Amino acid sequence: MLSDEKNRLLTEVGRGKPMGELLRRYWHPIAGVSEFDDKATKAMRLFGEDLVLYKDLSGHYGLLERHCPHRNADLSYGFVEEHGIRCAYHGWQFDRDGQCLHQPFEEAVDAQSRMRKATKTIAYPVQEKAGMLWAYMGPQPAPQLPDWDIFSYENGFAQAVFAEIPCNWFQCQENSIDPVHFEWTHNNWGMRLHNIDGPYVPTHLKLKFEEVEHGFIYKRIRQGETENNPLWSIGRMVLWPNCFYLGHQFEWRIPIDDNNTLSVLWVFCRVPKEQEPYVQKRIPSWYGPIKDPQTNRWITSHVTNQDFVSWVGQGTITDRTREKLGQSDTGIVMMRKRFFEEIEAMQQGKPLKGLIWDPEKNHKVELPSACEDELVHGLTRAEMNAHPLLGPFLRDFFVQAGQPENVRRAYEEAVGQPMQNSAYFKVHGSSQTSKNET
Ligand code: FES
Ligand SMILES: [Fe+2]
Repeated sequence: MLSDEKNRLLTEVGRGKPMGELLRRYWHPIAGVSEFDDKATKAMRLFGEDLVLYKDLSGHYGLLERHCPHRNADLSYGFVEEHGIRCAYHGWQFDRDGQCLHQPFEEAVDAQSRMRKATKTIAYPVQEKAGMLWAYMGPQPAPQLPDWDIFSYENGFAQAVFAEIPCNWFQCQENSIDPVHFEWTHNNWGMRLHNIDGPYVPTHLKLKFEEVEHGFIYKRIRQGETENNPLWSIGRMVLWPNCFYLGHQFEWRIPIDDNNTLSVLWVFCRVPKEQEPYVQKRIPSWYGPIKDPQTNRWITSHVTNQDFVSWVGQGTITDRTREKLGQSDTGIVMMRKRFFEEIEAMQQGKPLKGLIWDPEKNHKVELPSACEDELVHGLTRAEMNAHPLLGPFLRDFFVQAGQPENVRRAYEEAVGQPMQNSAYFKVHGSSQTSKNET
């Protein structure tokens, strides 16, 4: 249980709020590179700020305050130039540093462009990596944008999947350090959603949580497993500050504002050895729906959608004054404590957890992964089919609902077989092994 005051400290992300200021000191993926194939501007809201993300004609990205500093017109309706973006109202043009480059009428009446030179809007740096666009909204200097090792894995098909979730970011991130929910949300409930009766999956018997440089690790043992199971010997990673890393996929939870979260899923699927060498030309990105328009209920068919249902069900900003934490929540308590300590560290100007400053050290940074061997060295089609974690990826994209047809086709071509739209849960829901759930 937390006091109201502490709950607000964890959840409020607007400018000037401690948590918002802390999170702004990290790079966050905010959009897919492929989103700019057919448009040049995108209206965005991040950390309670209205912004425009754009790609100019020279291929550079910028992230600016959405409202023009002249008289507040909406720059997401502006048009891009060779350098920067121009407001569609009176033609003021801005570069990616927020500097005004052109002020047509003012420059006509003042050859020295004094007003233009003095006009600057809010701007945040953007970088491209792994098919995503990343923003840094904190004070300068910016740390390195982490180069996680999986971004350089070969012979794989990656995709970035986005969704907007109408609840606060922190309850989404608490899900990253909540191993027991796999058993209930994804396995047992998942089976029932697919009308599969039968016994419950093996239950969790033992949990362990450890803090590491880039976050926390959780480990688990379920009925019938030994300590050799990679989910005990290696475990899974809560990537600081707002991500979950499962060894083959990341799940970031980016605050849009206090009441909404941008869910960003990045999944890497190694192709079977028979398909090698495979070089992915472009990492696709897409937005998944979260509500079924027919029933007006949340979509429950896919793994992350089931998580979304859990998060939004907790309330827009869950009331932590009325929770009853048990042993299963040990990791959540550890993580909250660390956030409170990090907020204090930030306020005292001390170094913050997990930031990478040295470019020399930012090269294929390794994170613990229970499936690293398989992803690095590859598996034959038969081995992959039999693999509890990776096998289901040869049958269906079960992770999030709404995969576009063209992405599915590209993936089928990469792995060399058609998807079956199989019921993932039929194959895995009642499995007696437990390296299976994603
Ligand atoms: S409001 Fe943007 S140029 Fe006037
Ligand atoms: Fe989950």
